Amino acid sequence: MSVQKAEDIAAQLAAECAGQTPETIVRLALERFPDLRLSFSGSEDVVLVQMASRARPGVRVFCLDTGRLHQQTLEFIEQVRERYPITLELLVPEHEALERLVREKGLFSFYRDGHQECCAIRKVQPLLRHLRDAGAWMSGLRRDQAANRSEVPEVQLDHSLGDAGQPLIKFNPLAKWTSAQVWDYIHRNELPCNPLHKKGYVSIGCAPCTRPILPGQQEREGRWWWESREHKECGLHRNERTGNV
Ligand code: ADX
Ligand code: SF4
Repeated sequence: MSVQKAEDIAAQLAAECAGQTPETIVRLALERFPDLRLSFSGSEDVVLVQMASRARPGVRVFCLDTGRLHQQTLEFIEQVRERYPITLELLVPEHEALERLVREKGLFSFYRDGHQECCAIRKVQPLLRHLRDAGAWMSGLRRDQAANRSEVPEVQLDHSLGDAGQPLIKFNPLAKWTSAQVWDYIHRNELPCNPLHKKGYVSIGCAPCTRPILPGQQEREGRWWWESREHKECGLHRNERTGNV
């Protein structure tokens, strides 16, 4: 697909999705892209699993299994796999790159020189590999998660495959929902939950890089807490062309 054509499609879809509910955006996305890949972090983005599996039983859902997720997150992912009519795919890092990182820098290099290198190997590369043959994907990004996410659109053109791949359409159906709306949906529909939420975890990533937050703290403050706010993205959602989330 040419960049111009992809831009036209994204603009048209953005117009169709404007003002629609997350359920409607999910349904429109799956009608248009039956092979769409839904990313699931094993957290409150379970609402998208519920919506997508209703709209299209068998929908492709993927988790980036970094090898460092909490046991509770893995058990929750399995619970979701058993409960919903989805095709769950667990994406693992490329073994040579990971073995090299650990051989050269050990298992906790991120505390010393930042999380970007480890995240690139354990998360971003497996994501890009998976998206190489996808026309579209979907995430649970929301505007209220962080200041640098405050303009996340519901539909966007994603150039993260760079010059080596085609532009992708990325749907963020929850972009305009608040955390309270997400949790209201979870409770009203009795969705399963990652038990870590009951222990004060809000945004959940890898075990060594996530901790609970205190009342009043911003949602993502428990992620990579030893780094400053502007470094709290792992690269999954960086748009190569614009640099924005
Ligand atoms: S992250 O980039 O900092 O890790 P965050 O935890 O806020 O992201 O989650 C935002 C969205 O990114 C999730 O709703 C999900 O779509 C995607 N995501 C994050 N982590 C994973 C993961 N391990 N596997 C699959 N998708 C993920
Ligand atoms: Fe590595 Fe931490 Fe990034 Fe997970 S969140 S991939 S453990 S740096």
